[in-house]
Amino acid sequence: MKTFNLPHTDLNVSTISLGCMRISSLSEDKLEELIRCALDLGINYFDHADIYGKGECETAFGNVLKKNPDLRKQMIIQSKCDIVTVDHGGPRYDTGKDYIIAQAKQSIEKLHCGYLDVLLLHRPDPLMDPKEVAEAFNELRSQKLVRFFGVSNFPASKMRMLQKYVSQDLIINQIQLSPVHALAVDEGVYFNMTDHHAPSRADQILDYALENDICLQAWCPLQASWEDGTFLNNPKYSALNEVMDQLAVKYDVAKSAIAAAWILRLPAKMQVIAGTTSPAHLKEMAAGADIELTRQEWYALYTAEHHPLP
Ligand SMILES: NC(=O)c1ccc[n+]([C@@H]2O[C@H](COP(=O)([O-])OP(=O)(O)OC[C@H]3O[C@@H](n4cnc5c(N)ncnc54)[C@H](OP(=O)(O)O)[C@@H]3O)[C@@H](O)[C@H]2O)c1
Repeated sequence: MKTFNLPHTDLNVSTISLGCMRISSLSEDKLEELIRCALDLGINYFDHADIYGKGECETAFGNVLKKNPDLRKQMIIQSKCDIVTVDHGGPRYDTGKDYIIAQAKQSIEKLHCGYLDVLLLHRPDPLMDPKEVAEAFNELRSQKLVRFFGVSNFPASKMRMLQKYVSQDLIINQIQLSPVHALAVDEGVYFNMTDHHAPSRADQILDYALENDICLQAWCPLQASWEDGTFLNNPKYSALNEVMDQLAVKYDVAKSAIAAAWILRLPAKMQVIAGTTSPAHLKEMAAGADIELTRQEWYALYTAEHHPLP
C-alpha cells in the first residue's frame, strides 16, 4: 500500500482509507475481519462520522477496539461532526463550540480510541461563527482529545475564511469525487464556457488544495448517485465500464482499482475513502494504490461519461 506524509502533520497515511459509513450492517466478527484485512493490506486510515448508522458505526468499531486495544496504535482515526439528523432534533448543521466539543468527546468514547487523530466539520453551516469553531478546536487540542482538524464538503472560499480564524492548519477537505461525479475536475476543464457543460460548483477546490498543501479525500469513489448506486457494471454507465474493463485487463486488477487509480492520479495529495464492507472488495480496490494511469488512460476514463474536451 502506498503511503504519504499527510501535509502539516507527522502522520504517514495510506492512500486508500476504510470508510466506516456502512459497517453497522456487519456482525462484530465480520467487522473485526474487515478491520484486520484493512490493516493487513497496509490501510491505516479509518473514516467515521458521528451520524453513520445513526451512531451505531462508531459504537460497532469501538467494540472491536475495546476487545482488541492493541489495534489502536496501528490506526489513524478520523471522525466528523456538525450534521444534526431529524432523530436528534434536526435537520440542521451545528458548528457551535459546545456542540463540536460534545460530539468529539462522544465519538472518542464510542470508538474507545482515547483521542481522535483528525476531526472534520462535516458540512458547511451558514450560521458558522469561525471564532467559536476556533475556540472549540483550541479546547479539543489543548485537552489532547484531537490532534488535527479539517473540513468536508467545504468550498475553497469557506476553507480560506475559516483558516484565518483557526490557529491549527486545516489539513483535509473530504469531497465527493469519482470518474462519474467529477465536478471539481469539470470546472477547471470547462472554464469560461457558455454552455451547461461548464459548471463551477466546486470553487476550484483542486487548485486550493495544491496551493495550500491540503489533502483531498474522495468520498463515494464508486457511486454514481444515491439513486443509481455504484457505476461498476451498471448498464447506465456502459461507456465508462468499457474503458474500465480494458484497463482492468491491462493492469490485471478489478475495475474498482481502476476507479481508485483515477482519483489518485490527480496532482493534489489524494486519498480514496473506500466504503466497502467486504474484505474481498477492499483487497481488490487497494490494488489501485499501486497503479499510475497514463495521461491518455486518465482522460479516457474522464471523457467516457462526460462531454468531449473543449
Ligand atoms: N463527507 C461526506 O459527506 C461523506 C458522504 C458519504 C460518504 N462518506 C465517506 O466515504 C466513504 C465511502 O462512501 P461509500 O460507502 O459510498 O463508498 P463506495 O466505495 O463508493 O461504495 C461502497 C458501496 O459500493 C458497493 N460495491 C459494489 N460493488 C463493489 C466492488 N466491486 N468493490 C467495492 N464496493 C462495491 C459496496 O458494497 P459491499 O459492501 O458489498 O462491497 C458498498 O455498498 C463512507 O464510508 C464514508 O466514510 C463521506
